[in-house]
Amino acid sequence: MLMNDLIVKKRDGGELSTEEIDFMIQGYTRGEIPDYQMSAMCMAIVFRGMSDKETLDLTMSMMNSGETLDLSPINGIKADKHSTGGVGDKTSLILCPMVSACGVKIAKMSGRGLGHTGGTLDKLESFPGFNISIGEQRFFDNVNKHGIAIIGQTADLDPADKKLYALRDVTATVGCIPLIASSIMSKKLAAGAHSIVLDVKIGSGAFMKTLEDGQKLAESMVRIGRACGRNVVAVMSNMDIPLGFYIGNALEVREAVEVLQGHGCPDLTGVCITLAANMLHLCNGWPIEEATKQAQEAISSGRAFEQMKRWIAAQGGDAAVLDNVSLLPQASVQYELKAPQAGYIHHMDAQKIGESSAILGAGRKTKDDVIDPAAGIVLKEKTGAKVEQGQTLAVLHTDRPETLADAERVFLEAIRWGADAPAAQPLIYGIVTE
Ligand code: URA
Repeated sequence: MLMNDLIVKKRDGGELSTEEIDFMIQGYTRGEIPDYQMSAMCMAIVFRGMSDKETLDLTMSMMNSGETLDLSPINGIKADKHSTGGVGDKTSLILCPMVSACGVKIAKMSGRGLGHTGGTLDKLESFPGFNISIGEQRFFDNVNKHGIAIIGQTADLDPADKKLYALRDVTATVGCIPLIASSIMSKKLAAGAHSIVLDVKIGSGAFMKTLEDGQKLAESMVRIGRACGRNVVAVMSNMDIPLGFYIGNALEVREAVEVLQGHGCPDLTGVCITLAANMLHLCNGWPIEEATKQAQEAISSGRAFEQMKRWIAAQGGDAAVLDNVSLLPQASVQYELKAPQAGYIHHMDAQKIGESSAILGAGRKTKDDVIDPAAGIVLKEKTGAKVEQGQTLAVLHTDRPETLADAERVFLEAIRWGADAPAAQPLIYGIVTE
């Protein structure tokens, strides 16, 4: 078999066989197929797409490119969650202790942020001492004992995705439904959980910009999960507006604490309750109304907050931070960004807001960049707000004052002004179960 022939076949709209996909993925993982051929294949897939069968074959081949985790040493129902990526998306920090306080075992591997999107590992490392590499045995023990553990993806898990994602990131081939679906699902399947809740983000801050594409991605991932015998549900949620008011790693921990203490902002709290209810429905079999009530009660009773403290401490983190968030890393510069004009905020491009936060030090341009946990943005107003000229729109947090002018420019480019109030947007677009 020759890789060149497979590129020609896909370029001309053909369907790759199971064997051809496996040849390509295993060969690429072993370094036998060079980046330039794989780039050409990815671009051909972007233009020609993949059938459901090809997407499933691609997912299985990627999953089998490395080790797969057997979670059987963990007792009970094991659940995992994955977001397709967004701005201000700290839902894992909130949802995981919520559902674990309701008896579901969270055994989760998370990733780091890249580009304008944040990553759960970076947020967790805002806790002094928090260890994301506790090893497999301690991971199992912690989940059995405390009901929750989140670690970094091990090097041997889905190596095909690691190589492919890095390649796609620099060849304009990330935004492609079969490639995203196989990338996410191969990792989730390899990580072993039987029940998986997917948060498919839709809007300006997400990879999927339209509801139509978001729905296609959600359906594709649910189909893959079901075909592999896993329990999967996808929640399609709004990422046209940053989620919550805080963007940046330690700042997002702060906002997660507010939600778990029962005084979080409505949009973030609402998305977390929907995700948690769907996970409880999936894992505990509770009707969705009962699951929603239990999720709300996990917050109002303080059980979810106590669960977060146990989890953070069990992974070596300083749980005292949760009762005193001023112990979190703080930026030396906090700059109030003022509205250049009066009017309604008609649109706030969430991707640009994420880019502005990354410029301040909260994100990475390349995998090797060092992030500043204290950097980020606290929004004072969001889409739909009526503001006066000179009113504070946001506070920019950074230890690198030289980045402020650029971050401010990008932030202001994100805003479209209008004379009237824009139409309200839904928080949840729908749930995909089939
Ligand atoms: N997240 C992933 O893990 N993979 C993608 O391709 C896109 C988002």
